[in-house]
Amino acid sequence: MEYSTSRLAFIFLAIVCKAHITKSQYLSCNSNDLMALNGFRKCVASPVDGWGANLDSECCSWAGVTCDNSTVTQRRVIGLDLHGRGLAMEICESLADLDQLSTLNLSHNNLHGFLPDKLFQMQNLEVLDLSGNKFVGSFPLHIHLPRIRIFDVSDNNLVGSLTSTICDRSLSIESLNFAENRFHGEVPGNFGNCTSLQRLFLNGNSLSGSLPERLFQLEHLRELQFQDNGFSGLLHERIDNLSNVVKIDLSNNLFSGVLPDVFGGLRKLEHFAAKSNKFSGQLPPSLMSSPSLSTLNLNNNTLDGCISINCSSMARLTSLNLRSNLFQGALPENLSTCHRLNVLSLAQNHLSGVIPSSFQNLQALTLLSLSRTKISDLSSALHILQRCRNLSVLVLSESFRDEEMLGHADLLFPNLKAFAIGNSQLKGSIPVWLRGCKNLRLLDLSWNQLSGSIPVWIGDFRFLFYLGLGNNSFTGDIPKSLSELPSCINSSRSFPPAGSPSNVPLLLGRGQGRFLTYNQFWNLPSTLDLSYNKLNGPIWPSFENLKGLQAFYLDNNELSGNIPNSLSGMQSLEKVNLSHNGLTGEIPASFQKLTFLSAFDASYNKLSGAVPLGGQFSTFPDSSFEGNIGLCGSSRPSLRSCQSQAKPPSDELPNDEASTDGTPYSQMAFGIGAAVGFIWTVSLCFLSGWVLDKGQRRR
Ligand SMILES: *[C@@H]1O[C@H](CO)[C@@H](O)[C@H](O)[C@H]1NC(C)=O
Ligand SMILES: *[C@@H]1O[C@H](CO)[C@@H](O)[C@H](O)[C@H]1NC(C)=O
Ligand SMILES: *[C@@H]1O[C@H](CO)[C@@H](O)[C@H](O)[C@H]1NC(C)=O
Ligand SMILES: *[C@@H]1O[C@H](CO)[C@@H](O)[C@H](O)[C@H]1NC(C)=O
Ligand SMILES: *[C@@H]1O[C@H](CO)[C@@H](O)[C@H](O)[C@H]1NC(C)=O
Ligand SMILES: *[C@@H]1O[C@H](CO)[C@@H](O)[C@H](O)[C@H]1NC(C)=O
Ligand SMILES: *[C@@H]1O[C@H](CO)[C@@H](O)[C@H](O)[C@H]1NC(C)=O
Ligand SMILES: *[C@@H]1O[C@H](CO)[C@@H](O)[C@H](O)[C@H]1NC(C)=O
Ligand SMILES: *[C@@H]1O[C@H](CO)[C@@H](O)[C@H](O)[C@H]1NC(C)=O
Ligand SMILES: *[C@@H]1O[C@H](CO)[C@@H](O)[C@H](O)[C@H]1NC(C)=O
Ligand SMILES: *[C@@H]1O[C@H](CO)[C@@H](O)[C@H](O)[C@H]1NC(C)=O
Repeated sequence: MEYSTSRLAFIFLAIVCKAHITKSQYLSCNSNDLMALNGFRKCVASPVDGWGANLDSECCSWAGVTCDNSTVTQRRVIGLDLHGRGLAMEICESLADLDQLSTLNLSHNNLHGFLPDKLFQMQNLEVLDLSGNKFVGSFPLHIHLPRIRIFDVSDNNLVGSLTSTICDRSLSIESLNFAENRFHGEVPGNFGNCTSLQRLFLNGNSLSGSLPERLFQLEHLRELQFQDNGFSGLLHERIDNLSNVVKIDLSNNLFSGVLPDVFGGLRKLEHFAAKSNKFSGQLPPSLMSSPSLSTLNLNNNTLDGCISINCSSMARLTSLNLRSNLFQGALPENLSTCHRLNVLSLAQNHLSGVIPSSFQNLQALTLLSLSRTKISDLSSALHILQRCRNLSVLVLSESFRDEEMLGHADLLFPNLKAFAIGNSQLKGSIPVWLRGCKNLRLLDLSWNQLSGSIPVWIGDFRFLFYLGLGNNSFTGDIPKSLSELPSCINSSRSFPPAGSPSNVPLLLGRGQGRFLTYNQFWNLPSTLDLSYNKLNGPIWPSFENLKGLQAFYLDNNELSGNIPNSLSGMQSLEKVNLSHNGLTGEIPASFQKLTFLSAFDASYNKLSGAVPLGGQFSTFPDSSFEGNIGLCGSSRPSLRSCQSQAKPPSDELPNDEASTDGTPYSQMAFGIGAAVGFIWTVSLCFLSGWVLDKGQRRR
């Protein structure tokens, strides 16, 4: 209290007098520390924001500097937090002269160069965070940080082995983070000397070999992140020693052999992930009856046998991903007693039979993926699953082969947001019951043999942003209502709430029959795919409404009429395919305005006139225009060349006149288009997806 009052008074005085005060009874920091800080800032190209003048001894009030309260005249710097300040420099050794420093946080800057050895000899340092920089070089062999608790060098460009003395004399170390660097070699056995260790992050390196047995003696370990390395060998049975461990991630390594049946000892384990390894054999009973386990991900291994699970003891299980293994037999009946199960993926296994009727008890289920299995009886499956009232993502592609889509069944999926059942050779028509799925955002029925017309009511789905109907036998006009899809009009999507699963496998027609795995598949571009059908009639000019649509596939139909000039109002378009139809007239010059357009194909129609030159058009290959007798193009060898004055420059694009052949304009437009497109894609990836709350904008 007295201190802060004096401090206020001091600041007041300082302002009033505008005096240059070099010494203050209350605020002066230790001269040694001042020298160290000034030494540090000499390395910085630009001044450090919030730091006083060089001679100013009030370093305790500088931004990010914390001093202790020990003595009045000689306050010591004990903390330096300069995270996220855009510092671009090498760190000077002088920082290590802050001999009372206990916390150093320089994370998320642009620091580069080598790590000075002296930094790793600081006697009082407890927290060292250098993460998120561009440090290079190898990790120092000799580390003597006797008081260190938290050590973080993650997300840099460090190389070499992890061999070091860090654990030998640091008895209080709790957290070691080496993630996202380029370390290689094995994990040194002396990590076992870090007896207080709780968290070890090695993910995202090139580490190899097996895990040292001594690691499993660390009884305080709570979190082990080893994913994305080249670790191999068996998973050691001594892992059962880790009775405090809560989270283990071994994903994307080369571990092999059977999973040891020792999970009974891991009494606090909540999250176990070992996806994309080479584990084989059966599921260990102790794992499949773990009372603490909440999420289990064994996706993409070669596990086999039946899926045997004891839900009476696995009371906390919320997410089970066993996708892409060699499991066989029927879907386990007793899975239905896992009452908290929220996410279930059993796709890409040799499972057969039908969905047990007890699955209707999975009332917490929001995501179910059973694609690429031999499961059959779609009719009973849908009747059972509609009782799972919370089901919001249902992926059944490449299962239920050759069955009939239930056209007129009385089904209700009020919460369904995504429904995919592609490549199943389904017959029948678009089922009427889908109309009740008012929350649909994504509908994929592509690669089937569905026929009949596309119902008008599809345009009523308020949230639909992805419609995949490609490669079926639909006939008739494109319903005009599709040009009124609200979610494609406003480029805003109403995203499902957060807390949703990762790694949802979808089969989408445009993916050429491959499974596309999207961590957050709500990131898919807004798409209308009607390709490979038998649709006829015109492309409605009103499609210009769809200002948020990114991909528009109409190829391989029997469409006729002109390409409406108004389509250039679809300002988000990135991909357009109109090939193999009977379209006539010209390619509208206004399409040059579509700056995001990266693929355009109008081949094999009856188009005429000149191929536009500006905008993105200079980047499209000749093959996008071939097979149109009437089309001509300047500087397009495979097309007939146009009469040079055949077409006046478009008055919509004044820039076109400035450049005689359109090249500078088009290159610039392409450059801007590409740059904007790139930024836009990157931001999309970060911004959108499950994590977004309702109503947030895509841009
Ligand atoms: C110094 O003292 C003030 C007021 O008593 C207190 O709020 C602050 O946390 C102390 N700082 C340190 C580093 O001990
Ligand atoms: C360093 O600062 C960042 C930003 O405040 C923070 O997220 C991080 O936890 C800090 N590091 C440590 C080890 O406390
Ligand atoms: C650290 O571990 C190594 C081998 O892993 C061992 O030889 C050494 O004695 C240990 N050092 C201490 C101080 O415990
Ligand atoms: C862990 O293993 C070590 C030796 O390998 C043993 O001394 C220790 O008692 C074990 N701890 C537990 C909790 O089982
Ligand atoms: C599956 O795991 C293998 C390595 O075992 C990896 O090469 C492959 O990319 C993984 N596939 C998927 C879809 O994750
Ligand atoms: C699961 O149910 C089957 C019968 O359907 C039974 O034989 C088996 O023991 C059950 N498994 C577990 C772990 O409860
Ligand atoms: C399943 O777990 C319960 C509770 O732990 C146990 O009583 C039962 O015997 C187990 N069932 C099987 C088939 O292992
Ligand atoms: C179903 O979803 C609602 C709303 O998200 C939630 O409140 C309810 O708990 C869920 N039901 C179950 C059984 O988890
Ligand atoms: C259409 O789907 C069938 C399977 O139903 C597939 O074999 C074929 O390759 C697909 N054709 C196109 C062009 O995607
Ligand atoms: C589009 O968004 C605007 C406001 O951003 C809103 O007024 C309008 O109702 C929305 N249109 C539709 C069809 O959702
Ligand atoms: C358009 O679709 C056709 C098949 O109908 C395909 O061959 C062509 O590659 C597609 N064009 C683009 C640009 O993707």
